[in-house]
Amino acid sequence: MSDQLAELEAAVLERAAKITTRADLEMLRTEVLGRKGGALSRAMSGLAKLPPAEKAEYGRRVNETKRAIEAALDAALARIEKTEIQGDLARTYDTTFPGNTPRSGGLHVLRQTLDDVVDFFRSRGFAVVLGPEVETEYYAFEAVNIPADHPARDNMDTFYLPNGSLLRPHTSSMQVRALKSNPPPIAILAPGRVYRRDALDASHSFMFHQIEGLHVDRGVNFGHLKGFAADLCRHLFGADRRTRFRPSYFQFTEPSAEVDVSCGVCAGRGCQTCKGTGWLEMGGSGMVHPNVLRASGYDPEGFSGWAFGLGTDRIAMLRHDIHDIRTFFENDPRFLEQFA
Ligand code: PHE
Repeated sequence: MSDQLAELEAAVLERAAKITTRADLEMLRTEVLGRKGGALSRAMSGLAKLPPAEKAEYGRRVNETKRAIEAALDAALARIEKTEIQGDLARTYDTTFPGNTPRSGGLHVLRQTLDDVVDFFRSRGFAVVLGPEVETEYYAFEAVNIPADHPARDNMDTFYLPNGSLLRPHTSSMQVRALKSNPPPIAILAPGRVYRRDALDASHSFMFHQIEGLHVDRGVNFGHLKGFAADLCRHLFGADRRTRFRPSYFQFTEPSAEVDVSCGVCAGRGCQTCKGTGWLEMGGSGMVHPNVLRASGYDPEGFSGWAFGLGTDRIAMLRHDIHDIRTFFENDPRFLEQFA
């Protein structure tokens, strides 16, 4: 009888070691340990026929066999669970596969350019002000001395909206807004998008960026404007760059001047980039027109100031030797990543 128990134990242990699924394991468990008809219960029923002297010893043997078999079945279950988990992991996550390097973003080159200009203005005590891109005719034109029917309104090729407002064609619309909402002295820069009905080509876009600078106080003169513009150009392009002021005309400044910076490609000798002139146009400028001061509630006898408008896109193009303004807005990573 004891031999039979030893055989049963050996046979079950051998099978358990080979089992790979939970279903097979449960089948084996019922077959051996099942209360009715299980191999062990059958062995137990043999107990009754034994002489009393052998009963205790046989009972002990049955229990030992049962414990050994249970331990083997538990071990098999643990082994199956482990393979299941490893299988799940292998299906969802291959730890041996080379990783993906995450793509890191960066500031757009126009934002970098603007940040640099802002740094310069801030270091001289100027504040950044932002205003609406959907503007009224009043702030875009009337307030800056461009009355209705003035031909200058045509030059701007403005986008009008059905309700009579417009997309601002320049940041000069911020001059009177800033003057009206702050007591003097005013020292601000107003960056942002501007819109004009220009056909898209390498140097024109229906949307581009300007930076308006404005300084109004008692006793501000043209010398302040020249000094500030020259310093800004050196900050943006390098200490060796020169500036020049060319007489010009804007409705909202008097006198007015075009600001040029010496060409960095040929150092002013004349080349393709500067069309042989040695100079690159930076923007418009001048002394704030008395009518603009009056529209803002300032007495032109007591206050004066300078204003200028720079093209952010143009500055970025000159600094990075970019030849097509459209590349700023096409969002091609091959272009953008060069500046990230
Ligand atoms: N608003 C002008 C333009 O868009 C530039 C400018 C700004 C000129 C301020 C003078 C003073 O061309």
